[in-house]
This record gives sequence, C-alpha cells and structure tokens, in this order.
Amino acid sequence: MKVGFVGWRGMVGSVLMQRMREENDFAHIQDAHFFTTSNVGGAAPDFGQTDKVLHNANSIDALKEMDIIVTCQGGDYTKAVFEPLRATGWNGYWIDAASTLRMKDDAIIVLDPVNRNVIDAGLKNSVKNYVGGNCTVSLMLMALGGLFQNGLVEWASSMTYQAASGAGAKNMRELIAGMGAIHSEVATELADPASAILEIDRKVSDFLRSDNYPKANFGVPLAGSLIPWIDVDLGNGQSKEEWKGNAETNKILGGEQPTIIEGLCVRVGAMRCHSQAITLKLKQDLPVSEIEQIIASANPWTKVVPNTKEASIHELTPAAVTGTLTTPVGRIRKLAMGGEYISAFTVGDQLLWGAAEPIRRVLNIVLG
Ligand code: HSE
Repeated sequence: MKVGFVGWRGMVGSVLMQRMREENDFAHIQDAHFFTTSNVGGAAPDFGQTDKVLHNANSIDALKEMDIIVTCQGGDYTKAVFEPLRATGWNGYWIDAASTLRMKDDAIIVLDPVNRNVIDAGLKNSVKNYVGGNCTVSLMLMALGGLFQNGLVEWASSMTYQAASGAGAKNMRELIAGMGAIHSEVATELADPASAILEIDRKVSDFLRSDNYPKANFGVPLAGSLIPWIDVDLGNGQSKEEWKGNAETNKILGGEQPTIIEGLCVRVGAMRCHSQAITLKLKQDLPVSEIEQIIASANPWTKVVPNTKEASIHELTPAAVTGTLTTPVGRIRKLAMGGEYISAFTVGDQLLWGAAEPIRRVLNIVLG
C-alpha cells in the first residue's frame, strides 16, 4: 500500500508523526510518501522510507498514485483537493482530521475504542473516507464511552473548558504572550509585597481592555479572561462547536436512537487539554460504584478519579493530563435532581485523542 502524508509538519501532523514514531508504525508501511504545499522537491522527513523527496500536495496526479492519503492539512485543503481527486476515479482511502467530510453519508467518524464496530462495518461495505471527530466530542466519548456504548444515557449536557490548541498553534502562542504581557504590566508592583492588590487588579483590568493586549488571533483577551463562544455563529443562538456535540456524537455511536447532547462551549487559558463538566441523565438509577465500573472498563485510557478534593485537584486538570493519552473522569456523583442524574468532569489532551491518535489508529486498521 502506498501511503501519502499531507500536513505532517503542522501541529496536529507533528503530533501524529511523533506518535507514529513512538509506536513504530512506519515498520508496517511498505511505501510511505510525503507531500508538501510549500517545498516541492525538498527533502522528506526520514522515517526509514525509500522515497526521500517531497511531492506536490496540490497535484491531483501525484495524489492519485496513493492507495491511502492521510492529511492533517486542514479543512481548506480537503475542500480544495478531495472532490477533484475523487473525480478522477481515485478509489483510495482518504483519512483526515478536518470537519469538511465528517457528516457526509460516505464518511465515517473514527474513534475506534468507541466505534470499532462502525469502522469495521464501513471497511466491509467499501467505505473509503475516514475522518477524525471534533476534539471535544472524541474526548467526551473516550472518557464516558462506557455509559454511551451501553445505551445508558438519556441525555447529556456538556459545559466545556477548551484549550487554546483547538484554535491553532498561533493561538497557543498568543495565550502565552498574553500571560507574559499581563505580568509585565504589573511586575514592579508584584515584586513589592506591600503593594495594594486592588491597584494591581486595576492595572491588569485596564490592560486587558486596552489595544496593547496581544489578541490578533483570538480577537479578545484569553489570558486573564475566557471566551464563551467557539467556532462560527450558526445564527440560532448556537455555536458550530455546540452543534457538533450532538451531531458528531450520534454519528460516531451509529445507533438508531439519537441521544441528545447539549451544552455551551467555552475557551479558557489552558494550552492543549480540553476539560468538560458534564451532567448526564441516565436511563436507570445505578449505584455510583457501578457507574464508575462501567466507565473504567470501557477502554484502557479512561481512568476514574475518586471524587475527593485531593484526587480531583491533582489528577483531573490540564496540568496533570497534558501530553498523555489518559482521559480521566472524576467528580462523579448523584445530583439532587434525582437518582438518574449524575455529574462528571473529564480532561483530555486535545492534540492526542482529540486529533492525532484516532487518525493514527485508523490508518493501522485500514492497513490491516
Ligand atoms: N473546534 C475545536 C476547538 C478544535 O476549537 O477547540 C478541534 O476539533
């Protein structure tokens, strides 16, 4: 199988390459080829493959030589290339992480620890398009998949705390720049333990509202603040990120009866871990111990964090989880509304299970 990689140098692509190296995935790929939009003819990264030259990612002729194309280049690239490529009669596997094709009937949203059955059925039925899901959806399902896969959820409401990485590499830099700029504004006062905190706060607030705050990418301050809207405004009071929560979750699960997923999506000043506070109405009044057992046994990456202050503040945070494949779930308790209502809080690395890992794994599944 000839496998072509596009967008391998961007943030998600780099994480994908890193994971493939860690797992020695290139040992199973006989014929890897690397594509570029900016450096055609340049040197390809060395993963031990024979072809050492970069090919033109915008050349349909070059792409159609591949049996599998894996792209992390983003939605605009998929929009530009996918249809013309298929129009040539190309019948290879298209694997990407963009939202462009996700909801199409001939595409499967991949998250194999949760929907391996859907992926296997797709492969059997000659489906050729496999797309990684929205990060928030994938991370929620990795964490709480046990409840969803066992048909126990009547509805769920997810309030998110999404990291800067979901908006892109430049946005991560801007978050840090904002933190540094805020500190610089009041460094002198901070160094003096006798300075008045309200004066420091006033200076910080003035700075947050000033034109000097670095906000070219987010448009508004993130460090020292938050942004209660993610992705485009659908015009009905809902953001596209919120719409994806329901649409993609149900497509991934592939069941007949949709489960309603609702909530608000919020950007916070975390680097690359999305967190979510989730309220669930279950179909049964199960004991908490049984709920925890169902969640923990769903896949090897989910971990139940005891609902105590100590465990929660140490194990259930972006700081603890970043850079790992673990998707811990904690704060599980029965709510006052009734025995079927529970809360949960989950954290997951947006670039790993939220982006690169489902792609890496489906490539291996397609390769067999
Ligand atoms: N839309 C997500 C976010 C990114 O902005 O955090 C990944 O799907």
